Amino acid sequence: MSNETLIIQAGLSERPRKSRLPARLDLLQSMTGLFLALFMWGHMFFVASILLGKDAMWTITKFFEGYFFFGKAYPGLVSIVVAVVAVVFVLHAMLAVRKFPINYRQFSVYRAHAKSMRHGDTTMWMWQVYTGFLMFFLASAHLYQMMVWPQAIGPYGSGGRMWVDGLWPFYLTLLLLVEFHGGIGLYRLAVKWCWPNAGREFLKKLKWGITAFFLILGLATLGAYIKIGIENQDKYLNGEHYTPAWVQQAEESAR
Ligand code: HEM
Repeated sequence: MSNETLIIQAGLSERPRKSRLPARLDLLQSMTGLFLALFMWGHMFFVASILLGKDAMWTITKFFEGYFFFGKAYPGLVSIVVAVVAVVFVLHAMLAVRKFPINYRQFSVYRAHAKSMRHGDTTMWMWQVYTGFLMFFLASAHLYQMMVWPQAIGPYGSGGRMWVDGLWPFYLTLLLLVEFHGGIGLYRLAVKWCWPNAGREFLKKLKWGITAFFLILGLATLGAYIKIGIENQDKYLNGEHYTPAWVQQAEESAR
């Protein structure tokens, strides 16, 4: 093989050209991140409906299963929503991986750089890499479970999962990861695209305020599911699903 062929096959003959692709990929990464962050805000409020009682959580669950539109619950509808979120999640992760340090040398250069600069935003970026990396595994497992067994979502099902199946440490870890990752992500989006001239101190305070709010809401929610899980272990193990008294009455009188 001639040297010329070797150079062409290795792609070394191509001159660097100006390309818009990196900027487009960056925009797509920001857009998928924004979608996921806004989805998580909604998700946290829906899941937190348990704080208002079992009936409230049952109503939200059945709403997404189409019960109030079709008169019958179709958990498959939840699987479709989960699949859409999972596709966006995978796309976001693929785009983010481009920026991860790819070997120990790159990682130590970055660390030395961050340490010498002592620049908060640079340090925060690394935290986003750590939390994002861990979420590859934890969020994928959660999404898989929600997609394959949507019928198990409900006060007894979710509470039992937390306590009887012992998943509360998993959820606690995922909660911390998602809130720190999402909070830093939104802050970075604001600085990058929306308010490049806004006071960073103000944006940081806002970011910590939002993170603290969702962490408190998430911890209270986790506590509520654990309590229901402890109180209803037998029902969960017998495969019972929670049904509000008013629905039971309506179903009995319809028979
Ligand atoms: C459409 C997709 C999703 C659905 C239907 C869903 C549904 C649920 C449900 C029903 C729970 C209550 C516990 C249970 O039943 O197991 C829960 C908890 C949780 N989910 Fe999701 N989830 C989705 C996506 C996500 C994603 C993408 C993340 C994060 C990356 C996430 C993070 C969490 C966390 C942290 C909790 C615990 C909340 C707390 O303790 O306050 N979920 N989710």
